[in-house]
Amino acid sequence: MKKSDRAQAEFYIKNQVLPESQDISELDYHFQRRAALYSHLGIPPLFLKGRSVLEIGPGNGENSLFTLSCMPGEYVLVEPNSGGLEKTKQLLEKSRFSDSSAITYLNCFLDDYSPDSGFDLVLCEGLIPGRANPENLLRKVLELVNPQGIAVVTCSEHLAFLSDAVRKILGLALAEPSLSVLEQAKNITPFFESHFSNLPGMSRNVKDWALDNVFNHTEDINFSIPRALEAAGSDADFYSSSPVFFSDWRWYKQITGKEFGFGSHAVDLWSRIRHSTLNHTCQFPPADPNVVMALVGLAERIFDLSRELASNRDLNILPEVSETLLELVGKLRLVPGDTAWTCDALLDAGRAVSQVRHKGIAADCGRFAALFGKGQQHLSLMKR
Ligand SMILES: C[S@@+](CC[C@H](N)C(=O)[O-])C[C@H]1O[C@@H](n2cnc3c(N)ncnc32)[C@H](O)[C@@H]1O
Repeated sequence: MKKSDRAQAEFYIKNQVLPESQDISELDYHFQRRAALYSHLGIPPLFLKGRSVLEIGPGNGENSLFTLSCMPGEYVLVEPNSGGLEKTKQLLEKSRFSDSSAITYLNCFLDDYSPDSGFDLVLCEGLIPGRANPENLLRKVLELVNPQGIAVVTCSEHLAFLSDAVRKILGLALAEPSLSVLEQAKNITPFFESHFSNLPGMSRNVKDWALDNVFNHTEDINFSIPRALEAAGSDADFYSSSPVFFSDWRWYKQITGKEFGFGSHAVDLWSRIRHSTLNHTCQFPPADPNVVMALVGLAERIFDLSRELASNRDLNILPEVSETLLELVGKLRLVPGDTAWTCDALLDAGRAVSQVRHKGIAADCGRFAALFGKGQQHLSLMKR
């Protein structure tokens, strides 16, 4: 693995932050969210009972608490950030589920972990997109899964990440580059708090989000569902996803021979509906894949501009961001379904970007303040 696959974790370790913490004060809701995710992914909690489970990058362990409550027989957690691993350990050990499984905590990177045997379920959330070698990471994850076992990974892509990329641009334009990243994140947090008040279910704290989304190093975020399935190749097949988009009307008795498997069917469906990731509240009807690809290309341009701004902090790119958003809206108007509100929100985003350097913290985001994409998509894969 190239060193840059470690950049995200090294940023956390260097700044001594645990930026992915979630508010789980209402534990029932947290468990319902996790149960909903597992249900989308086709994993009944009973599947975990007595099974071997590996979690890579548990962060601070909030998600691990639900997994532990499903009583796996063996539960191994691999986390390079010792602060996060310690928090995970404390959370799990003081919970009422602590005696239900044999738990092992390992303070290392995925690449340095070589167990003697595989696992029935391998969880790897929030880790692969944005790394330098996502395919390698996915293949390493799959190596750790027992035959017919399940891997859960997260995917992302430029359309899903568009609202995040625009917020990154706004955040970078508002922040004072001469300050430490922690200070910069703190200063821009109030600006984004009004945005996140529009997002029910947001369980992360806004300053953590700002630190991670605006200032953390990221390689290309694009690790789409088709890209993940291609990397999985013949080692694993599409099983399910969250959001659930897959439907298969083939008669199961005919899913044999060359027809066996679900991956190519999933890729075909995704290529026509992936623009629904632009707005987490919408599901647009299928569209012409060529128009969808044009949208992907424009969202990719905005993502690239956000990275350029992160590296040189040169605000001269802002007009190009606004123009690209305008072009994207022109294409979005061509797809079927009710895209009007999303188009208006993106136009407001373009206006906010063009005003931000003049008006600073007062830049008005209009409807864009309530636009959030389906930033990451969970994918479950069955090992062959
Ligand atoms: C964005 S957080 C996600 C935390 C949690 N899984 C979640 O979804 O809320 C990514 C986690 O992966 C860990 N991580 C990053 N690179 C890693 C690597 N190469 N091997 C293992 N863990 C890694 C980070 O330290 C961090 O805890």
